[in-house]
Amino acid sequence: MTATGRLDGKVAIITGAARGTGASTARRFVDEGAQVVIADVRDDEGRALAAEVGATFAHLDITDEGGWADLVAVTVERFSRLDVLVNNAAILLLASLANTSLEQFEDVMRVNAAGTFLGIRAVSDAMKAAGGGSIINVSSIDGVYVTPGTGAYAASKFAVRGLTKTAALELGKFGIRVNAVCPEAGNPEMVRPFLEGIDPGELAKSGPVPKPPLGRRPSMGDVADTIVFLASDESAFYTGADFVLDGGTSVGMNITVPGV
Ligand SMILES: NC(=O)c1ccc[n+]([C@@H]2O[C@H](COP(=O)([O-])OP(=O)(O)OC[C@H]3O[C@@H](n4cnc5c(N)ncnc54)[C@H](O)[C@@H]3O)[C@@H](O)[C@H]2O)c1
Repeated sequence: MTATGRLDGKVAIITGAARGTGASTARRFVDEGAQVVIADVRDDEGRALAAEVGATFAHLDITDEGGWADLVAVTVERFSRLDVLVNNAAILLLASLANTSLEQFEDVMRVNAAGTFLGIRAVSDAMKAAGGGSIINVSSIDGVYVTPGTGAYAASKFAVRGLTKTAALELGKFGIRVNAVCPEAGNPEMVRPFLEGIDPGELAKSGPVPKPPLGRRPSMGDVADTIVFLASDESAFYTGADFVLDGGTSVGMNITVPGV
């Protein structure tokens, strides 16, 4: 997509932006004229990306309440305002419920759900002071419908959608919009550790894989484009909404019907 300054003058924090979907989003935001703070625990990758695209890197563990307060204070001090937060950072766990320990369940909920909660709370005052803002929470297709093995992750991603709707109701009067994106795909590196050691023959048996109506699965660029839209003033009347990025796969059973 050609950049046309859709985010000119906006100051944005994007969590988990050292790689993957967050990195794609950071690149698009900079192209569209935003001042971007890349916040992640992956310091080397985050710093390198920030230097390459002309953004700022900040170390942030999104489960650290004090870290959030510091990041918002430093951002406002440096750029005088804060307009956009993309709560993108997350971790994945693929395991049956029987094979998920309480500690693993709590880890996933702490990062994905509590991290998002802390982010929303941390930026609210700065956005109120700026006269409004846009918060985009990255959920997942696993926050809309589930497959076996996604228990803890799906619970956290449904929680992200719930937080989104509550925040939209509470913050609307301050001009702050809060929306969720629910992508079917992201960085394959997030999934790769869980596929190690699985026999490709066994993997091939999992299915049936639904046919995507648009003929392909979404890319990280598709997700970034949607986040740009939600950060921009073009989406001024959207709040509390779920933006499902699956090319229509979850709409219904896309089966082959004779004659249709
Ligand atoms: N990968 C997929 O297939 C997929 C599918 C649907 C949705 N998603 C969602 O998309 C978003 C981006 O994921 P991705 O696909 O780019 O994967 P990714 O693993 O490349 O990106 C996640 C980023 O979050 C960071 N992170 C993890 N824990 C953190 C913490 N405590 N504090 C700060 N940063 C932390 C990681 O360092 C990493 O840079 C996530 O919310 C993910 O759940 C991913």
